[in-house]
Amino acid sequence: YVKGLIDKLSMERLLSKEEFISLLKDYSEEDAKYSKEIARQIAGKYFENQVYTRGLIEFTNYCKNDCYYCGIRRSNTNVTRYRLTKEDILNCCEQGYTLGFRTFVLQGGEDTKYSDRDMVEIITAIKQGYPDCALTLSLGEKSFEAYEMYKKAGADRYLLRHETANEEHYKQLHPSSLSLHNRKQCLWNLKKLGYQVGTGFMVGSPYQTAEALAEDFLFIKELSPAMVGIGPFLPHHDTPFKDFEKGSYELTLYLISLLRLMLPNALLPATTALGTIHPLGREAGIQAGANVVMPNLSPVRVRKQYELYDNKICTGDEAAECKMCLQSRMRKIGYEIVTARGDFVPFLEA
Ligand code: 5AD
Ligand code: FES
Repeated sequence: YVKGLIDKLSMERLLSKEEFISLLKDYSEEDAKYSKEIARQIAGKYFENQVYTRGLIEFTNYCKNDCYYCGIRRSNTNVTRYRLTKEDILNCCEQGYTLGFRTFVLQGGEDTKYSDRDMVEIITAIKQGYPDCALTLSLGEKSFEAYEMYKKAGADRYLLRHETANEEHYKQLHPSSLSLHNRKQCLWNLKKLGYQVGTGFMVGSPYQTAEALAEDFLFIKELSPAMVGIGPFLPHHDTPFKDFEKGSYELTLYLISLLRLMLPNALLPATTALGTIHPLGREAGIQAGANVVMPNLSPVRVRKQYELYDNKICTGDEAAECKMCLQSRMRKIGYEIVTARGDFVPFLEA
């Protein structure tokens, strides 16, 4: 009957919480295979064999937060902290543009050293230098006013994973300075301001249950984001979660396929964490319905310092190497990396 639920999800694009729970608890290997096949077909219908790329610029690893899972949490004194200047960032964009990237993602810890004015200056400079590119921000939780300033300065998109839609689980992953309520409020604010919003969660984070995952799906459906990033939880040796098991590779692929069934035209990245847990993880992600890859454009000298989890891939590779590497990896499975902004197209009914 899981097969029936998979069919129902692909037809109606929604299930009840109980149905989601069965889908997550009772599935067999064969069900997962079936779901991935349908997901791949749907992705093919909307995106053919095209894979969008985003150039990720990890511009600061300072963070005021202390999330229990994250390697750059405030309490980790073993990290060498760094900040990129506006000039550094523009250099990354220059390199990225030459390599064919038309979306840049500015991602960082919640670093109070950059004021809203600083961010506006950086956003303005990027949009002025690269008017044909989309700019995505991933700077964590900010006020409505800050999000508004960034939007007016030219930011197009914002990534903010909700991490888990279950209240109790959220508390188990974060110190009490952070709340699910505020996280969700930020996401609604971003939507209201007209950003293309990306959210997501880790698969197999400590204390995650099938019920919590079902709530993730229901919340994602309600938010109706342009993008959903998921990847396996991977322990980092300098965090409170260092002794927890990593998330399941197979479950991550299955969940990517279910997201594709629920949100046929969404942007779904095959994440770096997925490429870290398995050498062919990103390829498998694309084959399970993902359609985006997000290689790193940060200068190699700082790469190793942005370690959210252990053994992160590509920390020694130049942007050009990753571009070539991904291009050949995608070609091997019959997909092409394209030079395009890769905007979300709402209500696309092919
Ligand atoms: N394992 C996997 N993903 C992680 N993230 C943070 N720490 C880890 C980890 N240990 C994810 C979070 C965050 C995103 C930038 O990286 O979901 O939102
Ligand atoms: Fe970075 Fe393969 S994508 S080395």
